[in-house]
Amino acid sequence: MKILVTGGAGFIGSHTVIELALAGHTPIIIDNFSNSRPSVLDGIESVLGYRPTLHTGDCTNPVFLTSVFEREHIDGIIHFAALKAVGESLEQPLRYYRNNIGSLIDILDMALHHGVRAFVFSSSATVYGDPETLPIPETAPRKPATSPYGNTKQIGEDILRDTTIMANGTLRSAALRYFNPIGAHPSGLIGELPLGTPNNLVPYLTQVAAGNRSTLTVFGNDYPTPDGTGIRDFIHVVDLAQAHIATLEVLFSEKRLLETSPVYNVGTGTGTSVKELIETFERVTGITVPYTVGPRRSGDITSCYADPQKINKELGWKAKLSVAQALEDAWRWQQNSPKQ
Ligand code: UFG
Repeated sequence: MKILVTGGAGFIGSHTVIELALAGHTPIIIDNFSNSRPSVLDGIESVLGYRPTLHTGDCTNPVFLTSVFEREHIDGIIHFAALKAVGESLEQPLRYYRNNIGSLIDILDMALHHGVRAFVFSSSATVYGDPETLPIPETAPRKPATSPYGNTKQIGEDILRDTTIMANGTLRSAALRYFNPIGAHPSGLIGELPLGTPNNLVPYLTQVAAGNRSTLTVFGNDYPTPDGTGIRDFIHVVDLAQAHIATLEVLFSEKRLLETSPVYNVGTGTGTSVKELIETFERVTGITVPYTVGPRRSGDITSCYADPQKINKELGWKAKLSVAQALEDAWRWQQNSPKQ
């Protein structure tokens, strides 16, 4: 199938492009390179042996989108393209709403008008806010969003569901709620390449280990967890990428879904603390990571890990790779990647 991957040069997008191609699909990339680099296409080409089609442009530009949809006959869409920095979204709410919501509306409009059959939306575990139950099932309530970024994921899920209901079977869709994606392709040829200072733990940690930054700050060690640091469900990006393929395969099949536009947690089901993650990195790489403990980061929650049974059962997908493997892969990538 021909699959349009918006944000296909980004961290999760680029890994998904590879898994799509390996599964026999034809990925078509759209990216505006606002938080990625064209050189990721070289990495993808080295892994696959060919360069997927790239359309450089913005998903909020309907003229650009129309030209892509008229040129390509798209069967399915995975819509990654979005702004994703929580703190930045509080400073620039209109930019986040315009970009994340505007692009989703335009892409869905294109999907409806060009006979696209399957649509996968990138949502986030952030929709659960500070959860009352752990592990978190999809039936847990969505909490009022604490940032415009988080709100765009909740609104996005709703827009997708309403559109799918209206389409009455011609378009099938699902939203995937990602937990914490980490790692890199095992080839070391593609990985996470945040522009500027990384917001997330693993890219920051690997940059400190590489000597590009002096110290990692652990944001708080007074959480009510066994070692006092926050707990997350860190999932290897290749596992996460494969969850998209599993989702598309069910959407393209005749299989009846129990819900219109279901949501699925994409996590391992296991929580790992920040301190455990640093120790695992040190063990697998043999590098000591200089870190200090700072205050809690505003907006962070104590613990967040998935109950992944729904996706395990309904889509037949399960995370296979360990946090140790992900950290080894992230480190291999860091050593190959350009100095920030
Ligand atoms: N952390 C540090 N030091 C750092 C960076 C992070 O100690 O320099 C800690 C955080 O306090 C947190 C953990 O590492 O306890 C993970 O933080 P990340 O920033 O890597 O990830 P978050 O869990 O905060 O956020 C991620 C995504 C969001 C998404 C959310 C959903 O980045 O987009 O998961 O749960 F909304």
